[in-house]
Amino acid sequence: MRYPVGKSHLHEGGDDLSQQVFFPAWPGDPHCDLQEEKLHSEKLDERLGLRAHHGIETQLTCEETQTGNSEQPQQWRGLALQSLLTPYTELRRMILDLDERFQPGHLVELGSGYSRLAHVLHACSPIWTYCGYEVVPERHAEAVRWRDARGLPASRYELRCEDLRGLPLPAADVYFMYDYSDRASIEATVAQLQDRARQGHSIVLVGRGGLTRSTIEKLHPWLAEVISPLHRSRYSIYQSAT
Ligand SMILES: C[S@@+](CC[C@H](N)C(=O)[O-])C[C@H]1O[C@@H](n2cnc3c(N)ncnc32)[C@H](O)[C@@H]1O
Repeated sequence: MRYPVGKSHLHEGGDDLSQQVFFPAWPGDPHCDLQEEKLHSEKLDERLGLRAHHGIETQLTCEETQTGNSEQPQQWRGLALQSLLTPYTELRRMILDLDERFQPGHLVELGSGYSRLAHVLHACSPIWTYCGYEVVPERHAEAVRWRDARGLPASRYELRCEDLRGLPLPAADVYFMYDYSDRASIEATVAQLQDRARQGHSIVLVGRGGLTRSTIEKLHPWLAEVISPLHRSRYSIYQSAT
């Protein structure tokens, strides 16, 4: 059971050395420039051994061009890697915000790409458990390889290759969603969250991206009007009434 705790768990289980490797002091400013954050993330991908830029995204772009598959735009194919993924630094600030407000629990990432979030949690707040859902098999396979290569325990950082559109909403204490697909899919997922709230579960959703945030703010006042959301420049933390 989660409850607001008003203090950070960052130093309870986090490994100082790995935090230092991930986040050498810069950039901690919540208003720092997105381009700088992307450059920082690019270097960190290299250092941590993510191989996404070694052909996977290029291959996915080529497949899209060749097949013209109408499913693929919803899977963010053909986009620069650093735009597809949330920067590490922003994920770290997001975890700080969560740790200051909630007891750590289970975090589900809806449309997880390469699951950078699992690596940031492991370095900064390993008391959380995590499950990432990703529909593109090539991204999922690399996420699994990368998690295992870096020694993150699969029992705490689960990675599933699934299409969220065909699934019942997985249970979680906190959900993270960065514009994972098209408007209809995002609306359907937020509607599933509302059903879960009606069943008596409290919902915490970190929404990133214009589509996710506008869907919530236009159509889902239950996530924004009872408890005021925490708005940051590129993500918001929404909460249902408890
Ligand atoms: C914008 S990316 C965000 C990745 C990650 N959440 C992050 O913030 O770094 C959205 C991801 O959702 C995945 N996705 C799209 N539709 C999906 C679906 N129906 N089920 C599961 N994942 C999906 C895409 O393939 C893509 O990797």
